Amino acid sequence: IYGKNRRNSHGINLNISLQRELLFDDMRRWSSHQWEARPITATTGKGALLADKPVIAPFTAQYQIGRSQWFNPDNIAAVMNAGAAGFERWRLLAPRYANQERKAWLMLLASALENHSAELITLCVLEAGKTVQDSIDELREAVDFCRYYARQIDVHFAQPNKLTGPTGECNELYYEGRGVWLCISPWNFPLAIFIGQIAAALAAGNSVIAKPAEATSLIAARAVEIAHQVGIPKDLLQFLPGSGVDIGSAAFNDINLAGVAFTGSHKTARQIALQLAQRNGAMVPFIAETGGQNAMIVDSTALPEQVVRDVLRSAFGSAGQRCSALRVLCLQDDIADEVIRLLSGAMLELSVGDPLSLSTDVGPVIDSRAQHYLLRHIRWLEQHAKCVGKAPKAPEEGTFVTPVAYEITDFEALREEHFGPILHIYRYSAKSLNTLISNINSLGFGLTLSVHSRNPDTASRIERGIRVGNVYVNRDQIGAVVGVQPFGGMGLSGTGPKAGGPNYLLRFATERTRTINT
Ligand code: NAD
Ligand code: ALA
Repeated sequence: IYGKNRRNSHGINLNISLQRELLFDDMRRWSSHQWEARPITATTGKGALLADKPVIAPFTAQYQIGRSQWFNPDNIAAVMNAGAAGFERWRLLAPRYANQERKAWLMLLASALENHSAELITLCVLEAGKTVQDSIDELREAVDFCRYYARQIDVHFAQPNKLTGPTGECNELYYEGRGVWLCISPWNFPLAIFIGQIAAALAAGNSVIAKPAEATSLIAARAVEIAHQVGIPKDLLQFLPGSGVDIGSAAFNDINLAGVAFTGSHKTARQIALQLAQRNGAMVPFIAETGGQNAMIVDSTALPEQVVRDVLRSAFGSAGQRCSALRVLCLQDDIADEVIRLLSGAMLELSVGDPLSLSTDVGPVIDSRAQHYLLRHIRWLEQHAKCVGKAPKAPEEGTFVTPVAYEITDFEALREEHFGPILHIYRYSAKSLNTLISNINSLGFGLTLSVHSRNPDTASRIERGIRVGNVYVNRDQIGAVVGVQPFGGMGLSGTGPKAGGPNYLLRFATERTRTINT
């Protein structure tokens, strides 16, 4: 089945329904549009604005695609109060009615996102610099999250769980929402993760305050506008573009906060955990999905051509800006030269440039800060490692980083996550496999792992030895599908539960036990 399109959708197949030609015509029309992001709150005062910033497409470094108005965190109390009032109003309604409404909203939102696909895909390319195919996948994942979590409402919230107790007593365990969730999302999945967090928190019976990444507030604003158009009440879904540090600090101390869902770097997750530990008032759950230092281990039985194809996709797809992306390719010594030879040749075929062009494989990185940081790491590698592969030079203008591969002799370069198209290659021998496994574990991350081996015993030994959330055998390691590959890590990579999995909604809910003497 190698090479088959494995992605599915929990409903209409977007590949068919989009009709590519029509999509590209529509995208051309949208590409000259100007968008605006502004706070959308249920309070009458709206909250004074702190700043009004131009939004520039990253790959042009100068082309303005809209404006983003940042929320002033001084006004957070009004937003939190409105969210709490909305939560309480819906909590007291008959659960059957409220759950069916929530399910209907999410199903409608899924269809409405599909109906706005040309606009959202264009915006994703322009604002986040994702390629067209990545942007289509992004939309599809957002749609999948809505439909998947909508259906999970029936699984977890429709009926209480009956428990066995003494005769004359009825015992039940049931789930309900916790209150106001602050959902904080990253720029690298500006629609899928943004919508996934919101859909989960709403499905579990909460109200939501959605805080998008600073770099991608336009697409998030459009998604929230669409959500309100399909009927999601404004007090159940409020939108606060702006500084994560400032909005976070204000919201973490608010009495009405009931939970935080965060996806981003592990450094930010630590800062948030610290602030939540010091807040006044109730302890609140914290879901953190963070970065990875992901390995692919290739033994001597692997098929080199397949390995190279999976490396290209895992390391350089989405310009390496995926938490799941391959960072260290570990090659058994007797196959290493052959794989490196094929890989360096294949890298010369990568096309790096304008993400709007369909022939582009690798688009820009998100901004000049990220570009600077990645180029600094490449300069370090130039001094300490051997360059064994390089794509054709990226355009000078815009925030591009040319994909590169360096052979390293120890794991010094891997202490931190380098969030871009930089691949490290490390050789190991059959005898040193156990040391390799412990070196990878000692990095502390635990998100994805790919194993290439035709020997099931070796594959199983590696899979069991390396502690990560998502293992892929004989394939690439990115693009987890909602409901098919529930996604999330351990250690420095996050707290769980797995997004797009059967246990995700429960972490957003609280459990209650009811005992009735009959
Ligand atoms: P980031 O941590 O810089 O920011 C993420 C979000 O947190 C943004 O919305 C930002 O405004 C907000 N934020 C920043 N500081 C904050 C603070 N002190 N308090 C509250 N909010 C704050 O991450 P990023 O650069 O946007 O995203 C890239 C990172 O996300 C990478 O490390 C990547 O591996 C990770 N990521 C993880 C997953 C996953 O599912 N595990 C998915 C995508 C991205
Ligand atoms: N869920 C995303 C992936 O698997 C991050 O690539």
